Amino acid sequence: MLAAITGAELGDDVLDGDPTVRRLEELAARRLGKERALFVPSGTMANQVALGAWTRPGDEIIAERTSHIVTWEAGAAGYLHGLQSVTLDSPRGPLEPAQLTRALRADSLHCAKTALICVEQSFMGGGECAGGQVIALESLRRTADFAREHRIPVHMDGARLFNAAVASGVDAATYAACADSVSICLSKGLGAPVGSLISGDAAFVQRAMVVRKRLGGWMRQAGLLAGAGIFALENNVSRLAQDHALAKQLAAALHGLPGLDCDPSQVETNIVMVAVDHPRHNVDSLTAAFASLGVLVLPMGPRSLRFVTHLDVGEADVARLANAAHGILGAR
Ligand SMILES: Cc1ncc(COP(=O)(O)O)c(C=O)c1O
Repeated sequence: MLAAITGAELGDDVLDGDPTVRRLEELAARRLGKERALFVPSGTMANQVALGAWTRPGDEIIAERTSHIVTWEAGAAGYLHGLQSVTLDSPRGPLEPAQLTRALRADSLHCAKTALICVEQSFMGGGECAGGQVIALESLRRTADFAREHRIPVHMDGARLFNAAVASGVDAATYAACADSVSICLSKGLGAPVGSLISGDAAFVQRAMVVRKRLGGWMRQAGLLAGAGIFALENNVSRLAQDHALAKQLAAALHGLPGLDCDPSQVETNIVMVAVDHPRHNVDSLTAAFASLGVLVLPMGPRSLRFVTHLDVGEADVARLANAAHGILGAR
């Protein structure tokens, strides 16, 4: 990857184009079966560019209550684009027509317009499920059919779309066909230092370019980053299976320790959400205790800890984590 970075052919993407960024955008569009893709610095910006490109101030979006767009983007939908969010409860992520029907607004001067439905694949989860859940293709198709029937576009937050694809054996483009715009991240499981893409048809991407410009996300000699992204897409997708296997191993090592619950059979990708219910420890004290033993873990809400495997984590690290957990919590 370092060689891909240092050897990248560069230009000025904001003026006459950066050839390596172009190659990355074309590669991502091909992988997702979309007409075009646009390089942006982060997954949050990719989502926000999509929101801005599909909506007008005063519109509404529909999304799961704990989805990244609703929960972890600092209120950007409202702050940046003047949007209201109608949130649905679906702890494992699918948005089924029965729920969507109830969330739709009447076509009335009194109501906001439902302008976008947002799905997340894989679904990170807000601490109320195992985390990293793969939404079934059939469910995504039902969401897409509903949206088409009501002429509402669908945005897919595919920050970990390739995790879902590798875990399920369903091609990323097949999932992406269930949405009109799809974001992907290169800097998570795929191991690039920076970067995400937002994809869709040519008209969408043209609008997205304006929003990206407004957000300051159009980068000049970005081929350095795009080179890493191309390497990530070409070399680091199929190996996600190793992260998934390791995540199951990690869950098995923690499940059943006093006060911890994370059924390994529920782990589908690289995220392990561990429920904490311990007489002496809470998520904050456990996070601190793990950190003091060199294991970094993220609290997700009042009763969950999130562990993530990725290409820098190996079996020895999981063994070290298991030892740390035994040290903190005692034996089974
Ligand atoms: C599902 C999902 N979408 C979007 C993002 C945002 O990505 P970034 O941190 O690059 O802004 C994340 C980050 O963890 C995520 O989990």
